[in-house]
Amino acid sequence: MQEKSHTETPYTALGFYHKISQLRADTWNALTRDLGQLVRLRNDARARQLIKTIDIKLTRLEIIEDYHAFPSKEDFRHIRTLFHREEYATLEKVVKRLVRALISESYRRRHVDLSETDADAEDLETLDALNQLRRGHPASSSSAQPYFELLIVDNCSPQEEEVVREAFHHLRRPEDKFVYDVVTARSFEDALIAVLVNPNIQACLIRFDFPFKSKYNLSALRRYLEGLSEQALENQSEAERSILLSSMIHELRPEVDQFLVTSSDVESTASSDIRHFNRIFYRETDYIEQHHTILRAIDSRYRTPFFDALREYSKKPTGVFHAMPISRGKSVTRSHWAGQMIDFYGINIFLAETSATSGGLDSLLQPYGPIKKAQEYAARAFGARQSFFVTNGTSTANKIVVQALVKPRDIVLVDRDCHKSHHYGMVLAGAHVSYLDSYPLNDYSMYGAVPLKEIKKTLLTFKRNGQLDKVKMLLLTNCTFDGVVYNVRRVMEECLAIKPDLVFLWDEAWFAFATFNPTYRPRTAMHAARTLRERYRSEAYGEEYAAWKAEFDQLDPDDDATWLEQRLLPDPEVVRVRAYATHSTHKTLTSLRQGSMIHVYDQDFRQKVEAPFHEAYMTHTSTSPNYQIVASLDVGRMQAEMEGFELVHAQVEAALSLREQLYTHPLLQKYFQVLKNSDLVPAEYRQSGVETYYDPASGWDQMEEAWAQDEFVVDPTRITLAIGQTGIDGDAFKNDYLMNKFGIQINKTSRNTVLFMTNIGTSRGAIAYLLDVLIKLAKEFDRRWEESSRPERKLIEHRVHSLTRELPPLPDFSRFHDAFRRGAETTEGDIRSAYFLSYDEENTEYLRFDNGELQARMRDGRDVVAASFVIPYPPGFPVLVPGQVVSEEILHFLQALDVTEIHGYRPELGLLVFTSAALAEPPVY
Ligand SMILES: Cc1ncc(COP(=O)(O)O)c(C=O)c1O
Repeated sequence: MQEKSHTETPYTALGFYHKISQLRADTWNALTRDLGQLVRLRNDARARQLIKTIDIKLTRLEIIEDYHAFPSKEDFRHIRTLFHREEYATLEKVVKRLVRALISESYRRRHVDLSETDADAEDLETLDALNQLRRGHPASSSSAQPYFELLIVDNCSPQEEEVVREAFHHLRRPEDKFVYDVVTARSFEDALIAVLVNPNIQACLIRFDFPFKSKYNLSALRRYLEGLSEQALENQSEAERSILLSSMIHELRPEVDQFLVTSSDVESTASSDIRHFNRIFYRETDYIEQHHTILRAIDSRYRTPFFDALREYSKKPTGVFHAMPISRGKSVTRSHWAGQMIDFYGINIFLAETSATSGGLDSLLQPYGPIKKAQEYAARAFGARQSFFVTNGTSTANKIVVQALVKPRDIVLVDRDCHKSHHYGMVLAGAHVSYLDSYPLNDYSMYGAVPLKEIKKTLLTFKRNGQLDKVKMLLLTNCTFDGVVYNVRRVMEECLAIKPDLVFLWDEAWFAFATFNPTYRPRTAMHAARTLRERYRSEAYGEEYAAWKAEFDQLDPDDDATWLEQRLLPDPEVVRVRAYATHSTHKTLTSLRQGSMIHVYDQDFRQKVEAPFHEAYMTHTSTSPNYQIVASLDVGRMQAEMEGFELVHAQVEAALSLREQLYTHPLLQKYFQVLKNSDLVPAEYRQSGVETYYDPASGWDQMEEAWAQDEFVVDPTRITLAIGQTGIDGDAFKNDYLMNKFGIQINKTSRNTVLFMTNIGTSRGAIAYLLDVLIKLAKEFDRRWEESSRPERKLIEHRVHSLTRELPPLPDFSRFHDAFRRGAETTEGDIRSAYFLSYDEENTEYLRFDNGELQARMRDGRDVVAASFVIPYPPGFPVLVPGQVVSEEILHFLQALDVTEIHGYRPELGLLVFTSAALAEPPVY
């Protein structure tokens, strides 16, 4: 499952314990039910059968719970003893308590003693659950000490384990900021499995010699440990094994703080890559020192510098003698009319509203204090070298990055169906735009993503025309709105082989969450950039490149096929890794609306970009940035570092459950088709051959393979449902059925699809509700058919036919008109000059295409050229940009669209186009 390159850092695709936490919860619940039945049954055949299934469930749970601190191994021994003694009634009580403690998460707040099964103990559990319910979600309790688990990797006996656990328990003090329990892994494999299945693990203490293999035969889990073998580790020293384990844990969960306890001199070992250890301890029993170091490490992630500063500020009495009457709630608390704002929001939001940059606060425009710190923490969390907060969404973040890097007349390669902020950003920067076409998905009226070959071809054209020095940036959307994900590392590597200092802007508006899952993370810009940087500076890569170059030089460099068919490698002597990512933090992580971030991994940032970046940031950032948004970004970062792994995992689990039902439910299948990998990614881009991640027999076992290899993969958390068989179009389905009837909100539709996005807030309950609604709708469609007359049925059939068979092919980008072309042989266009040419009314006219007027001009041989953006919703990408020639295909597409909302098009007037005279010799703006 490693990417097929010689020395490239392996893709550690260990990431998906699909549905393990659901399996855990479901098995405990099923066990409670089984025990309940058993207790009520007399001793008959059914009872014997139940005892067998209970035994199987206990065995499964014993394995899962071995990786968790609660229930402890002691607790589990107690459960097993009760089972063997056939004390089923007591066992039922114990298991019920345990399940309650797991659900209410009371074990995070106090010791749950499962040997106490009296009424008081039960009452305590029930009371605890009630209290948590009253307060909201269990985890929202802010007064309690946050809880985490410390993983100790050590091949110790159960008695030794108990001693260590007790030693750490004894160190607990009420004034500690956090409380933790200990979970032990006795082997290399167990340690990896533990960090994958147990999100409570926040710190890891690697102790003495431990074997490679787990005692369990975890065939289902072992698949994820491919690429590692016992033999490979056999000859390693204890220290080397610890170091390898630490780097693998880091690859899976970089946020986990790792410590090493050793008696050897690790710095002197051959692979002395000890950078993933927070600290090394040389004395095993230095528990106090270890305890405080661990707490300090957790605290450095838990800290929220700006949120804290804002809360402190809100407590200070201040006299307001500047603008902003709402600050400290002054204008509303004494209002006779506007007090409802306080009633609704509470007072704190107003106490925290200020325009001051003093008093412990900071300035977003020139950060030096808590905002600076908060941004540094964000860079750590997202694996960037620098991170910047943006309080006006990724629409603004994108423009900042483009302005910081692109000068007028620089060439930028852009995917044409990218977000509109990029097109406007190109206008502002005066870039010469070379549009790239994504592969179309005509059957669903949507686009995929831009194939690497298309990008390479475009770069090669610029190279042959001697314009490569003008090509500045490649701008792509990852993942796309519909969840198509690039192989980011591969794209950057091959492009850098043609243009070694190319800058990449990855619009990850929808992908901030991806950093917190090990399968997704390698396909993020920051991870890919860091990996490539490390690769290019390694000796091994130097050798790989030399061997590759020797072979490549045997081929014909003037033949495009040489470049297009080969996997290209950049020259390590000249390559510069320069990557930028923009995140709508508010779309996929915790943040108030408009909270976004820019992440930078650019080797040349300090030297070449810092100053223009600052100016660009000033250009687009309000001088009155919203502090609540900044604070929410700070908290969102902290949450992602503390529990992003858990939340994203749960999100994926929820999405997989939904998909599983949709794949297998006969009634749902009749009307709704979930688009699989093979529907969204053509076979030529699926090198793994994986068509769907799901197999009814083996479950979700194909995902890592596809994510490790394929040019494009689909993010399973975004679920596109083809609804053509319902005879209802996407827009009507969204509004009339989902929203109006059932209050279900969705964002994107195409003519015959609707997109359901899950997020880190999606619960199992929400999934169940959605399924229930879809089943109700499917039943309604069944009824509609049964009760329809013959002509009505004909009408339904006609609509289904239209939505599934009569889909207008999606048009490619036609071309910029010659008046805006700047390269003789190349296709880039001066979009800015076209944009501003339309400001003079006499340069433009309206032509209608519904009455054939526009077509007649085209037949007369005139190039009809758009003077504005034309963006139909859906699909939401510009069908025309200023300066673009209107083609037959585009007209056909526009005519066939049955959407009501087309931005830039006025049906009563027509399309805004340039007059022929205006195109004769347009000025360059
Ligand atoms: C790909 C992409 N980029 C950027 C944006 C703009 O993000 P924001 O809403 O944070 O301004 C969007 C919004 O939907 C988007 O889909």
